[in-house]
Amino acid sequence: MSNAPAEEIPAEEIDLTEANEVIDKYLTLPGNLMPVLQGIQEAYGYVPKPTIDLVAERLNVYPSQIYGVLTFYAQFHLKPRGRFIIRVCVGTACHVQGAERITETFFGRLGIGHAETTADLRYTFEKVACLGACGMAPLAMVNDDTFGKMTVQKVDEIIETYNARPMK
Ligand code: FES
Repeated sequence: MSNAPAEEIPAEEIDLTEANEVIDKYLTLPGNLMPVLQGIQEAYGYVPKPTIDLVAERLNVYPSQIYGVLTFYAQFHLKPRGRFIIRVCVGTACHVQGAERITETFFGRLGIGHAETTADLRYTFEKVACLGACGMAPLAMVNDDTFGKMTVQKVDEIIETYNARPMK
């Protein structure tokens, strides 16, 4: 597995076909900026820069206005995200039960830090606040799968499991 964060990948060429289809769908509706951006993120997994220019042009809005929306709402991502989103809780209960060690182990194994994505786009790592299952602390999630009572050994098992999963 590559250890370089995704930011080091050269900018890829984006096929704008899907973005144009999303825009076509909402073009005549009032208040269409949000659904257009949501549709683009659904199609690409994030909102690529060339799609922002396209939306600005086709909806006749300033790119700065679009960036304002994208940065205001946490749901939007401006960089590619991994196929598997690993979240480790660093809330109080998990912290007390050794979340730091779990986080550091993931960092070491994956070669990325908080809010980073592996160059192969398999993993994005995020530290998060309480996930609401403090009784299972320390807690980790991979997409919708929950892993309680985390240990260093479980970190290795999780990585082994998701390394074996297909990318689509
Ligand atoms: S503090 Fe981690 S789940 Fe609540």
